Formats: sequence, C-alpha cells, structure tokens
Amino acid sequence: MKKILSYTVLMLAVLSCRQNTPITNTMNVFTSIDSREIPDNVVHLMADDWMLITAGTPARFNTMTASWGALGHLWNRPVAFCFIRPQRYTFEFAEAQDYFTLSFFDETYRPALALCGRVSGRDVDKVKEAGLTPRILESGNVAFEEARMILECRKIYTDFFSPEQFIDPATDIYPSGDFHKMYIGEIINVWIKDNDQ
Ligand SMILES: Cc1cc2nc3c(=O)[nH]c(=O)nc-3n(C[C@H](O)[C@H](O)[C@H](O)COP(=O)(O)O)c2cc1C
Repeated sequence: MKKILSYTVLMLAVLSCRQNTPITNTMNVFTSIDSREIPDNVVHLMADDWMLITAGTPARFNTMTASWGALGHLWNRPVAFCFIRPQRYTFEFAEAQDYFTLSFFDETYRPALALCGRVSGRDVDKVKEAGLTPRILESGNVAFEEARMILECRKIYTDFFSPEQFIDPATDIYPSGDFHKMYIGEIINVWIKDNDQ
C-alpha cells in the first residue's frame, strides 16, 4: 500500500512538472508557459507582428504568413483563431492534419515573413529561401527555431465564411468569392524561447 502511495505521489509530481519541461532537442530551449501568461498585446501580435501558420508532418509540411487571427477563450479552453483562403498551399495541410502551429518572431525576421506571405510552397522551398529552420516539437508538430513564441493548436472547429452570414458585406475582400476558412484551435502548448542562452 505504502509503495502504491509513493508511486502515485511520484507520478503526480512528474505530471505537474510536465507544463514546464523545456524542449532541448536542438539548439534553442523553449519553455512551456500557461496561455494566460502570453506577454504580448494580441491585437498588435496579429496585425503588426504577423505569424507563420504551419501544418503538416516533419517529412512534409508547409507554412504561410498570416496577420488575421485572434487568441482567446472559448468552450472553456484557450483558443487561437486563424483564417486561410482555400487557394493557399497551406490550406491542404491544415485540412489534412489535426494540429497546426503559430510561430511568432521578432522584427529581424520581417523579410522572412514577407517572403512566406508572397510566394507559395507549391513553387518554392520557402523555408530555405527565408533562411528558417524547422523545429520539430515533442508532439511531432512543426514550427521554427527562429521563433520567439510558438503556439501549438489542436483543431476543434473549422468552417468557411458564408456570404449570407455577413452583416457588413466584405465585398472588397472577396470579389471572387474565395472565402477564408476559419480554424479554431485549442492551444495545447505555448512555447517561449529561453533568452538566457
Ligand atoms: C502580412 C500578410 C498577412 C497575410 N495574412 C493571410 C491570412 O490571414 N490568411 C490567408 O489566407 N493568407 C494570408 N496572407 C497571404 C499568404 O501568406 C500568401 O498567399 C502565401 O504565399 C501562401 O502561401 P502557400 O501557398 O505556400 O500556402 C498574408 C500575407 C501577408 C504578407
């Protein structure tokens, strides 16, 4: 009985440490924080800093720049919203996978993000062209070494915007009817790069 009790206490201790176990499989150390501790202003983060949406497997993935999105709280979970037009190559990967990642960078990487938002992974090895390094997370999800913050998200709801639901029609945004698909992902991990390296 005493043995079982000690084992249970040990397991609980291990599980409670899980949140802050750093990823150290490559050169940078990323530490997991609670989503409530994300230090950024979210509007600024999306609209001005931009992000890379990445989906796929370590062997085959794609990434694209996005500036439309949101972070918040829904169905009692921390969530991230992003919006992908169906003609993006990334769309195929986001559709096929259960997870996607959002990577955020400091200003130094603005040209890399501009490139990933200008060319398609169908035509160019964007990651190489942009000078980025894929980071395979413990879960197998793909993000980038150069990111300062990575959100790992599990898809929980997706839908296309439909024209009849618009109250203020976004006709200038969708002249050809290529409505974005909305992806709501439960944030399962927030990884912050450890700056003390
Ligand atoms: C600043 C910026 C923000 C963008 N935001 C979005 C977005 O929120 N959703 C989207 O579908 N495309 C967005 N794009 C366009 C895609 O990043 C772009 O079409 C990219 O080349 C798609 O790459 P892919 O075909 O490899 O997926 C944005 C581009 C830039 C430069």
